[in-house]
Amino acid sequence: MSETLERWGSKRAFILAVTGAAVGLGNIWRFPYVAGENGGAAFLLIYVAFVLLLGIPVMMAEILIGRAGRRGPMQALSKLAVDAGASRHWRWLGLFGAFTVFCILSFYSVVSGWSIEFLVASINGDFDGASAAEIGAGFEAFLANPGLLIFNHSLFLFMTMTVVAAGVAKGLERLNNLLMPLLYGLLLLLAGYATTTDGFGTALSWLFLPSFGDVTASVVLHAMGHAFFTLAVGACALMAYGAYMPDEQSLPKAAFAVAMLDISVALLAGIAIFSVVFAQGMDPADGPGLMFVTLPIAFSELPWGAFWLSVFFLLLLLATWTSAINLAEPMVATLQGLGWRRSVSTAVVALSVWLLGLLSAFSFSTLADVRPLFGRNVFELVSSIPPDIFLPLGGLLIAVFAAWVMPREQVVQALGVGESGYVLWRNIVRWVSIPLTFIVLLGGLL
Ligand code: PFF
Repeated sequence: MSETLERWGSKRAFILAVTGAAVGLGNIWRFPYVAGENGGAAFLLIYVAFVLLLGIPVMMAEILIGRAGRRGPMQALSKLAVDAGASRHWRWLGLFGAFTVFCILSFYSVVSGWSIEFLVASINGDFDGASAAEIGAGFEAFLANPGLLIFNHSLFLFMTMTVVAAGVAKGLERLNNLLMPLLYGLLLLLAGYATTTDGFGTALSWLFLPSFGDVTASVVLHAMGHAFFTLAVGACALMAYGAYMPDEQSLPKAAFAVAMLDISVALLAGIAIFSVVFAQGMDPADGPGLMFVTLPIAFSELPWGAFWLSVFFLLLLLATWTSAINLAEPMVATLQGLGWRRSVSTAVVALSVWLLGLLSAFSFSTLADVRPLFGRNVFELVSSIPPDIFLPLGGLLIAVFAAWVMPREQVVQALGVGESGYVLWRNIVRWVSIPLTFIVLLGGLL
């Protein structure tokens, strides 16, 4: 990222860009399956509380650093630290963020590739008249075919890196403008359909009536990790976007708007998916395949089902695309900050992510039983440790930097709110977000 930066065209464009980063697989694929594995309503409640207490304030911290620094993450942190009389070593936080998104993008691209496969299958009418069992078996067979997974992973990564190579702001604005309303509308339709299924009542009580008896430290840790993941906070990725933020915009309003939209997308997806899960007598803890199996079943019951299913996978693909572009941006910005050309940086990032992604693609077949750490295979590792541990840890350090290291006037200006708004934000970050993240991380790790 050069020092004469491009800017988002308008306030709305900035909000849409951050929404594009936030809304993705996290809401529609990851939320239902992680909630499913962690007991449902109690998980949901804790995750929403974390979005409010940690996600929004830390998102503000992260974006304001980018906005005040107006550079790629490493360079912004380094400059602001020196300005504040602190150590330049803060810049390593930018590198840690880049490492985090590196791990995340590697599995994200593989799973987004599943959407490509399902888009093509639904256009072909492959799900027409298929029973739930057949759809489930088809998904298993697909996972067991690494060649197909790798093909789709490559295609998706190529789509992503082409946009990144061209520079982020231009293409993204128009895409988001169209995509978000369409995706939202379709999820509303699906949730509407869910009300007509036998599973709707069970889904509602499973999602909204918490039983705290089953809450363990690990459930709390997953809920925290998911709050960071779904908002795209903690990896300096939004910091990279903050650098393009218009001067006159209020940050708290933008952060709050994005978070509300993000939660509501997850809830709509959750209602739609769990209604089908219960109507079909499936297990909510069925893991990463949950969405890919339930939604084809749901749509097959609707008039024009194959058509709507294709539209859904197309929108999902576009939503994950905008998130993946955000995941790639901090890595490219970091290499560019080291003096590399944007095209070279993009190519190096693409190749490295592709290689690591191969391990995830093989984790469903050849490498399924290769478990290098904690008894988990590569896909299970990269899809859990970076979201659950690295993002909160990065978020914690970002919060410390913004709330303890940066000088008051600079933060007031970058937040775009008055003194009282600043004091409120700072108190929440200093006395709630930072200690809470620390305690949950420590509790979860022990
Ligand atoms: N928020 C994205 C999603 O919910 O799919 C994932 C993500 C994007 C995580 C960017 C982290 C990040 F830096």
